Amino acid sequence: MAYTLQQFCRDSHDILAGDVPLQQRIDAVAQKLGDLLLEADFVASTFSADTPPGRRELFHDPELDFYVLAHVQEGGKRGSPHSHGTSWAIYGNATDLTRMREFRRVNPDGEEAWILEQTAEYDMRTGDTKAYGPGHIHSTEHPQTCWVVRVTGTDLDQIPRYRFRKLRDRVLEKA
Ligand SMILES: [Fe+2]
Repeated sequence: MAYTLQQFCRDSHDILAGDVPLQQRIDAVAQKLGDLLLEADFVASTFSADTPPGRRELFHDPELDFYVLAHVQEGGKRGSPHSHGTSWAIYGNATDLTRMREFRRVNPDGEEAWILEQTAEYDMRTGDTKAYGPGHIHSTEHPQTCWVVRVTGTDLDQIPRYRFRKLRDRVLEKA
């Protein structure tokens, strides 16, 4: 039987309401998101070639406050490193591809400038998903227009988040 958005949202609610550690719960939701992204009916009813770049809310859970968001990412764009503050975010690709980079801060918290070191780089393709916990820093790059679904622990626009500022912060050159 086809896996639907409605079923994914129910499963996510049940998983996130559980009492195992957060990373286990968001990893489990990421796995379910991977199943959903491979459903042709879901993708066809969520995105189309003329959907303009931007995001659309597919679902908000009023009890747990998580969101399911559909993003059309414009091609040829590379985002800056950022965190999701005290929240978490799960990324999944409905189409190729997101070039994902992960970072960690290498200087003390109290200093104004943030010095980052890149710790990972990988390509996410159709059906690939990844769950990032609180405080995690990453960036996304989309060589071509790409369809992405993101699940976030709350409305990320309403909470303080780290955002890379190029006049203040820097990423260490790779050794
Ligand atoms: Fe992010």
